[in-house]
Amino acid sequence: MKPQVVITDFINPPLDIEQRILGDLADVVALNAFSEEDILDKVENAEAIMLYHFISISRRTIERLKNCKLIVRCGVGFDNVDRLAAREKGIAVANVPDYGSEEVADSAIGMYLSLARGIHYANHRLQRKQGPWIYEQVRPLHRIRGRVFGVIGVGRIGTAAALRAKALGMRVLFYDPYVPDGRDKALGIERCETLEELLAVSDAVSVHCPRTEETQHIMNAQTIGLMKESAFLINTARGGCVDANAVVEALAANKIRGAALDVLEVEPPLDDDPVMQAWRNPEHPAHDRLIINPHSAFYSEEGLDDMRIKGSENCRRVLEGKPPRNVVN
Ligand code: NAI
Repeated sequence: MKPQVVITDFINPPLDIEQRILGDLADVVALNAFSEEDILDKVENAEAIMLYHFISISRRTIERLKNCKLIVRCGVGFDNVDRLAAREKGIAVANVPDYGSEEVADSAIGMYLSLARGIHYANHRLQRKQGPWIYEQVRPLHRIRGRVFGVIGVGRIGTAAALRAKALGMRVLFYDPYVPDGRDKALGIERCETLEELLAVSDAVSVHCPRTEETQHIMNAQTIGLMKESAFLINTARGGCVDANAVVEALAANKIRGAALDVLEVEPPLDDDPVMQAWRNPEHPAHDRLIINPHSAFYSEEGLDDMRIKGSENCRRVLEGKPPRNVVN
C-alpha cells in the first residue's frame, strides 16, 4: 500500500497538481474540512499533511498522528498549527513562504490607492446615488508623492509593499524590531525605533507582521488613536493583528480617514458581527470608508498553483527520505 498524503482543507478534486507530483509515491486524499472535527479519524495514518487556512491543527490532532513526518502549511502564516506539539512528536512543520508575496503587496498598495484616491468612496456612494457627481465628493485628497507609507513588519511582503510605495514617490518608514540594521540602507527606507514613532507620521499604515502573541491587536483603539486623522490603515496580514471593532469605531469618530481589511479574526465572519453590520449598513459612518475583502490578497491563479506545487514538492522530499524545506519548528 502506498503511503497517504492528506490535504485537509481548501483544495477540492481534481487534484491534478498533487497527483502529478506525488501520484507515483503516494495516495493523495482531499478532506475538504471546515473544522478540526472534520479531519478526525481521517488523518491518523497520513505520512504527510497539506494544511491550508480553513482549519487549525492543534495538539489534539497531532497526538493522534501515527506516521506523519511533515505538516506543510501551504501558505505563509503558520499560526493555525501547533508547532510546538508537532516538534515534540518529531513532526516537521513547514510553510510555503513565497507563493504570493507580490500579490499581497499588490493588494495592500491597491487598497491604499483605492482609499487615498477616493476610488472606493466615490464609486460606492454614487452607485447608490449619494452626493454630487463631481470631484468634491471625495475632498480633501492629497498628492501621493511625498506622503509617508508606514510598514509594520518589513519581511518578504512588507519589503515588496515598501518598494511599490517607493515607486509611487512615497517616503517609506518601517517598524520591525527583528530586522538587523542595514535593511533600511539596502532598500532606501527609514527605520522607526518604536511603533508610536511610525504611527505619528504615517499617512498610510500597512500591517505585514505575522500574528503572534506580541502582534495580537498591535493595532487597537489606543494605537489607532496615535495615527493621523487623515491617515489610512491597511491590514493584509492576519485578522488578529488589528482590532476590527476599534477600526470601525475610529472611522465613525473620524480618528482615521479610511481602512481596508483583507483579513478578519473570524473568517468567514458571522452576520451579527458588529463590524459586518457597520460595513453593510449604508447609514453607518464607516460604511463608505471601509474596504473588506475575503482573505484574498494572496490569490492569483499562478500563486495558487505555486502553493500547491511547492507544498506537494515538499511532501515528496520527505517521502523520498530528504529533509523538508522551509521548516518553521
Ligand atoms: P515574513 O516572515 O517574511 O515577514 C514578517 C516580518 O514581520 C518579519 O520581518 C518580522 O521580523 C516582522 N515582525 C515580527 N514580529 C513583529 C512585531 N512585533 N512588530 C513588527 N514587526 C514584526 O512574512 P511575510 O511573507 O512577509 O508575510 C507576513 C504576513 O502576511 C504573514 O505572517 C501572514 O500572516 C500574512 N499573509 C497574508 C496573506 C493574505 O492573503 N492576506 C497571504 C500571505 C501572508
